[in-house]
Amino acid sequence: MDLHLEKKSTTREGTTLQHPFLLVFILVMGFIMMDPFRMGPVGGRDFKPVKHDIAPYKPVMRNWPRDNMSRLEDGKLEFVDEVFGPESLEFDSLGRGPYTGLADGRIVRWMGQDVGWESFAVVTTSWSEELCAKGDWITPKQPKNEEKCGRPLGLRFDKVTGNLYIADAYYGLLVVGPEGGLATPLATHVEGDPILFANDLDIHSNGSIFFTDSSRRYDRANHFFILLEGESTGRLLRYDPPTKTTKLVLDSLAFPNGVQLSSDQRFLLFTETTNCRLMKYWLEGPKTGSVELVANLPGFPDNVRINDRGQFWVPIHCCRTSAQEILSHHPWMKSIYYRLPARLSFLARIIGMRMYTVISLFTENGDILEVLEDPKGVAMKLASEVREVKGKLWIGTVAYNHITTLAYP
Ligand SMILES: *[C@@H]1O[C@H](CO)[C@@H](O)[C@H](O)[C@H]1NC(C)=O
Ligand SMILES: *[C@@H]1O[C@H](CO)[C@@H](O)[C@H](O)[C@H]1NC(C)=O
Repeated sequence: MDLHLEKKSTTREGTTLQHPFLLVFILVMGFIMMDPFRMGPVGGRDFKPVKHDIAPYKPVMRNWPRDNMSRLEDGKLEFVDEVFGPESLEFDSLGRGPYTGLADGRIVRWMGQDVGWESFAVVTTSWSEELCAKGDWITPKQPKNEEKCGRPLGLRFDKVTGNLYIADAYYGLLVVGPEGGLATPLATHVEGDPILFANDLDIHSNGSIFFTDSSRRYDRANHFFILLEGESTGRLLRYDPPTKTTKLVLDSLAFPNGVQLSSDQRFLLFTETTNCRLMKYWLEGPKTGSVELVANLPGFPDNVRINDRGQFWVPIHCCRTSAQEILSHHPWMKSIYYRLPARLSFLARIIGMRMYTVISLFTENGDILEVLEDPKGVAMKLASEVREVKGKLWIGTVAYNHITTLAYP
């Protein structure tokens, strides 16, 4: 069953009719075997698919430039089997690093060939080797005790103090001193409401921390359901050190993920993963407080990072499909489709086809400066962040066991 129909020969009407017919067929089958038996991946869950604000598939894909040389394939796999799920990559003011957060809950740093990887920080006193590093793993990507051990995602050094700020998927916003150790929680709630899934952060030059809370419905372990539902309960938050308070900046976002301030601090960019787009939030000037679209993307973005030319790197889990688009416009189809008695990964693959990594460089206005693809997954899969440092790209991943580097430009 391949729902990814892209036949150029079909008429406009043909294309729009074909999908619903196929889907209705699946739906009828699905209905019979549906919830009474709770066999599907969402059976028994409070699964509430909703419409979301994604740009039409065809124009986005038509206008997206391709890297027909697959230049990301030239990336070098480094630290293979030494780091698992290095999502965010950071360097301290002495140029040491990378520092990165791992699937086992630790933040580690690379101290050069002689010392190797060193444990730098943890986000909770419940972290232990026994429970977290050696304990059971649900999948090769996710330790069973992830929730207890922590999952540090976004990392940023405060250049002035040398403190490392951490967005942890389970423990919220934290900070640890330049010597590392146990991190101190800064924000676990916003205006009385718990932060369920802190994901990434950036530090304003005035000391305030902007960070994302990806969902109020699903935590990181269940993040796939955010995408399946299309729900928009994510938030952009701000922690102000002088008052030690956390404020709501933007609400009702669809899987807000990466955050990056501009070099002049006049705006910040953030990604909305479910809506496949890069957005801008104005902090100064005539548009203060407003949100603008920067770019629609061909797939699902993760973190966004600035380079020293003021341009923005975004890794994209590519590509969207037309079948996904149909489902996102008809949430009722989703609620039946995902109750079919099959594995979630199987159902998702039919709709999503084979995904691969694309990394892309943008100007602040969304002009595309660079597109690097790895269609065969040679150098990277599920890229989470791209850091450009001194002529080199460092690429992290949330689910594999290495870091990829590539000379750039
Ligand atoms: C790649 O794209 C460029 C420009 O879009 C084109 O000139 C070139 O012929 C393409 N190369 C291949 C191998 O398709
Ligand atoms: C820092 O600047 C941001 C953006 O203008 C503002 O929202 C925030 O309140 C400021 N923080 C402090 C501590 O002044």
